[in-house]
Amino acid sequence: MTTHTVVMIPGDGIGPEVTDAAKMVLEAAEAPVSFIDRHAGVAALDRGADDVLPQDTVEAVREHGIALKGPCTTPVGGGFSSVNVALRKKLNLYAAVRPVRSLPGVKTRYENVDLVIVRENTEGLYSGIENLITEGVIVSMKVATREACERIARFTFRYATHRERKKVAAFHKANIMKLGDGLFIDEARKIHEKDYPNIKYEEVIIDAALMRIVQDPTQFDILLCENLYGDIVSDLCAGLVGGLGVTPGANIGDKDAVFEAVHGSAPDIAGQNLANPLAIIMSASMMLNHISATRQDDSAGAAGVKIKDAYNKALEDGQKTRDLGGELGTREFAEAIIDRLNG
Ligand code: NAI
Repeated sequence: MTTHTVVMIPGDGIGPEVTDAAKMVLEAAEAPVSFIDRHAGVAALDRGADDVLPQDTVEAVREHGIALKGPCTTPVGGGFSSVNVALRKKLNLYAAVRPVRSLPGVKTRYENVDLVIVRENTEGLYSGIENLITEGVIVSMKVATREACERIARFTFRYATHRERKKVAAFHKANIMKLGDGLFIDEARKIHEKDYPNIKYEEVIIDAALMRIVQDPTQFDILLCENLYGDIVSDLCAGLVGGLGVTPGANIGDKDAVFEAVHGSAPDIAGQNLANPLAIIMSASMMLNHISATRQDDSAGAAGVKIKDAYNKALEDGQKTRDLGGELGTREFAEAIIDRLNG
């Protein structure tokens, strides 16, 4: 059996706790992976690195192609810029894929939510180009390039086709940002018309789109968003299915892929065995599916399905962490999943 090397980046705050839990589950499921640890974020500085994103971490992901990453803290206002954004840019992980689904045993306002957010990961306002024009006047640049708009649109329609999804909605504000958001939807529309006419496609102004999502999320399927909208829409959608503890994600490029939950380092609950590890465990299951699809390894896909079945069963059995109204700690919830790995 082939073993795939995964670069494990524990990250900051709750990161080490939830990535440890994911590792326990992957090992118990006999997933065909082995880990090498690399660090990023404040955790890297604490270990003596001179940068929050050490070069050997980036190089390890380039070498092995796959990473499972915990969240990294980014200071608000001043301080260093986001490690997460830097990693996505350095590795050209241009597509963030974030499935949001209703889960068994997790009661929320809606049933049957089944959305996938595809977020452009490399430009928009996250380009981080901000200029102080004069005292009290700042200009933040929102970058849109035809290449990146086309690339994310093509990725989205290809993903929709492979996953047999029916609809793509592009969220925008091209009524105001006529050029930048205009380019984003123009490229999506062109690709839809030329190559994917069988998939339904609509363009929705983001503010109206969010109102429609909270009224009835089942009317949407795949949500194609530029960087900042994708970030905001992801957390809003997480709230539809139980919160940040249950929303996984993948950052995918043409060569490499980094799997991480949507949530951050949650400093308010860090180090207390309170965090829900489900989002990163779900991300690990996505990682195994990705390995299966890109490296033709059925055993990885089978382990991914086994883990998914086990966490669904655990939730059905009422095994939950505090964020979902239960009482289990991070480790105990991982153990509840492990107990259900073999049916
Ligand atoms: P956050 O996602 O860390 O926390 C928001 C709220 O959700 C908190 O009340 C937290 O306790 C709760 N929460 C988050 N994950 C949870 C989990 N797994 N189980 C239970 N409760 C959970 O967002 P916040 O507070 O805005 O950001 C904290 C730090 O994380 C910041 O430095 C931010 O920049 C960073 N961040 C990093 C990300 C990444 O590494 N990909 C993504 C988002 C934020």
